[in-house]
Amino acid sequence: QDDILNKLPLKGKKILVTAGPTYEAIDPVRFIGNHSSGKMGFDIAIEATRKGAEVILITGPTHLSVQNSLINLIRVTSAQDMYNACHQYYDEVDVAIAAAAVADYRPINIANHKIKKNDAAFTIALEKTKDILASLGEVKRNQFLIGFALETENEIEHAKQKIQKKNLDLIVLNSLNDKGAGFGLPTNKVTFIDKDHNVEPMNLKSKEDVAIDIISKVIQHYNA
Ligand code: CTP
Ligand code: CA
Repeated sequence: QDDILNKLPLKGKKILVTAGPTYEAIDPVRFIGNHSSGKMGFDIAIEATRKGAEVILITGPTHLSVQNSLINLIRVTSAQDMYNACHQYYDEVDVAIAAAAVADYRPINIANHKIKKNDAAFTIALEKTKDILASLGEVKRNQFLIGFALETENEIEHAKQKIQKKNLDLIVLNSLNDKGAGFGLPTNKVTFIDKDHNVEPMNLKSKEDVAIDIISKVIQHYNA
């Protein structure tokens, strides 16, 4: 039994995975969020443990749960919380995979009390959140850094720009265009683009199978 476990390709590797949406508070009862289910990140975490890795799974609000002795599940709420948790662990990991759908903006002020309605129009002033993935790229030593990209136009070009801008080794481009891919669905159509700009389109498949493909890329990196 011990022998079999020692032969797993990611034995001894530690992988940080981000998952899910983030919630940015408006007042004590309201937030700005998105439809991310967290499933892609959870599937990546589980697949990584099947290959022997230890995983730190940092997730925004989700109904998903996982009981796995190789997964340290850390639940956070906001982009700032996720940023703090990622930087707490980044130094000790070999690989980081950013599958979270982090909010790009948050309210500048959080009201202390529930905001009451009145007859006037209402606007919320927003400021940019920190780009977690880019910040990991900035302090990268030898971590293998994987990001996602969601684009609706000039997909490949925009994804290549993200590789450069965030100092990534690999990007997983998610296509929303194709039928049957995206939020709330069990399937994804992805294209891998590496830092040398090699483009590899994959078939439409289940998120579990996309997770297998992503972890295969990590294994390939260590076997190259
Ligand atoms: N990401 C992050 N922190 C943010 C925003 C994004 O870590 N504040 C990460 C996501 O987890 C993903 C990657 O950056 O791995 C790309 O996210 P995406 O929304 O496609 O790109 P952005 O850089 O936010 O640019 P835009 O939304 O304008 O396309
Ligand atoms: Ca974004």
